[in-house]
Amino acid sequence: MAAQDDDWLEDDTDDAGTVAQLEPWNVLVVDDEPDIHHVTRLALTNISFLGRPLNILSCYSGREAIAILKERHDIALMLLDVVMETEDAGLKVARIIREELHNHCIRIILRTGQPGVAPERHVIESYDINDYKAKTELTRDKLYTAVLGTLRSYNDIMTIEHQRRILEANRRGLIKVVEASTTIFRQQSIQQFAQGVLEQLQALLFFEQEALFVVVNGGMTALTHDDKVKVMYATGGYQNYCGKELDDAALLRFKPSIDEAIAGKRTVYAPDHFVGFFQAPHGPVNLLIIDGPVALSHPDADLIELFCKNVAIAYENLMLTKEIEDTQRSIIYQLSEVVESRSTDTGKHIHRMAEFAYVLARELGLDEQEAQIIKAASPLHDIGKVGIPDRVLNKPGRLDEEERKIMDTHAELGYRMLKDAKPRILRMAATIAHEHHEKWDGSGYPRGLKGEDIHIAGRIIALADVFDALTHARCYKPAWPPADVIKTIDEGSGTHFDPRVVEAFLRSLPAFEAIVEQYQDSDPV
Ligand code: C2E
Ligand code: SIN
Ligand code: SIN
Ligand code: SIN
Ligand code: FE
Repeated sequence: MAAQDDDWLEDDTDDAGTVAQLEPWNVLVVDDEPDIHHVTRLALTNISFLGRPLNILSCYSGREAIAILKERHDIALMLLDVVMETEDAGLKVARIIREELHNHCIRIILRTGQPGVAPERHVIESYDINDYKAKTELTRDKLYTAVLGTLRSYNDIMTIEHQRRILEANRRGLIKVVEASTTIFRQQSIQQFAQGVLEQLQALLFFEQEALFVVVNGGMTALTHDDKVKVMYATGGYQNYCGKELDDAALLRFKPSIDEAIAGKRTVYAPDHFVGFFQAPHGPVNLLIIDGPVALSHPDADLIELFCKNVAIAYENLMLTKEIEDTQRSIIYQLSEVVESRSTDTGKHIHRMAEFAYVLARELGLDEQEAQIIKAASPLHDIGKVGIPDRVLNKPGRLDEEERKIMDTHAELGYRMLKDAKPRILRMAATIAHEHHEKWDGSGYPRGLKGEDIHIAGRIIALADVFDALTHARCYKPAWPPADVIKTIDEGSGTHFDPRVVEAFLRSLPAFEAIVEQYQDSDPV
């Protein structure tokens, strides 16, 4: 009820005040008879919907209509004549729009001069035609009702489409953050690193503004005169500062935001500039200053935060080589949280996986270092799932064939994201991402590898992954009783799993139980 009241209010205010500023609804009239255009325009004058006026466009043949629709994607509704240059020119337009131009949003009202000759039902259904009218029904009232009803459904479709695009943009953003983070990891020197950070951020957020990447020495709570602000990398008009200190003149504009960033240990968005804050646990303060307005939507802001966290850790990694492996580990956990944060049902999955993998690796006789690397890399086994749309990833039921195909790409996708990384752990992670769904008998994916052609880490993670998936609830299935899980894995020996890995698993059951106990999913699905 409340929603309806709001609608009324909205309509009233819009009609009273803001009509002029709002985008019109574009309505394309396609008809070879000039009179029809005239009558239609008359009938639709001064009509508005949701406070937006109508803008009537005219064209006189099917060919012209197609040409217009190839160019314009902002037409809400088409009033389409059937008989024009040919008997069925209008139907052809409808087919091309839906099947060739893939425009599923525009609404179509078909009109014909020959009453009683309605197109077949399958035409109306397959080309998603909203309404069918004889031209004799062109009275103002009838047209008004048909047009308004159709604009309402167009508006609903566009709202859904808009939300879908936000989700999609968010997903693409996640993929870029993951790729950017591993790219940052490859930089050798601090200058290259700073340059990499700037380039990646610009690519992520489409910045065209000039930017500076600076390191602050000192600066515990705010900048003082003694603090040195060294410019590691800069673009545009700031290029001359590269490798030097930022002088007071250049600092002046940014000083309040820099102080705020340092005091609050956070990123500051000012109306005409942006100060990104990164600091690794033991490192100096790093700031990314962007000169110019930075308008960020919510998903973008979250992505920047995530990226900045990874940058800070990568920076420390660069500075403190003795802690390299630890910092790699934390980057890996950060990255795998990207996947976790999208998926509704993984919970403590990645932590358990790491522990299972270690237990199996040691039981199989791998040395401590090798086992540690497999453990450290294991959380990234499903990193490719950042590329899987939510409708598939979080589908509550079984996947159909097409969805299954999409889901199966996660192995190859994860591999491609990681394959160029230099650090050993990330190289191991690439192999694991690639091979964790291969099966011992060659029936797995993506490559159908067989037996010992599958890396031992892939064979280990395959079992750990299935064990964890079966013992816990997923968005598409409940948890299984432990005895059934053990039986299924045992039966998979020699087909799905390496028999030696299954034997190691059966010898390690108490350790597996203890891990499950220690990392229980906090909120069951
Ligand atoms: P996941 O949920 O982590 O499952 C990992 C693996 O555990 C699966 O790899 C499969 O080998 C095993 N597994 C999981 N549930 C079952 C089960 O009920 N019975 C048996 N016998 N084995 C099971 P798989 O099949 O390659 O799937 C990879 C990923 O694809 C899964 O990861 C999950 O994210 C997704 N997925 C698979 N099937 C479905 C489904 O029906 N619905 C949804 N929404 N997602 C699915
Ligand atoms: C889609 O369903 O195609 C988009 C959903 C998403 O990007 O997560
Ligand atoms: C997202 O992709 O950011 C949304 C995650 C979700 O709702 O599962
Ligand atoms: C972590 O909590 O980030 C690491 C836990 C683990 O190694 O399993
Ligand atoms: Fe997987």
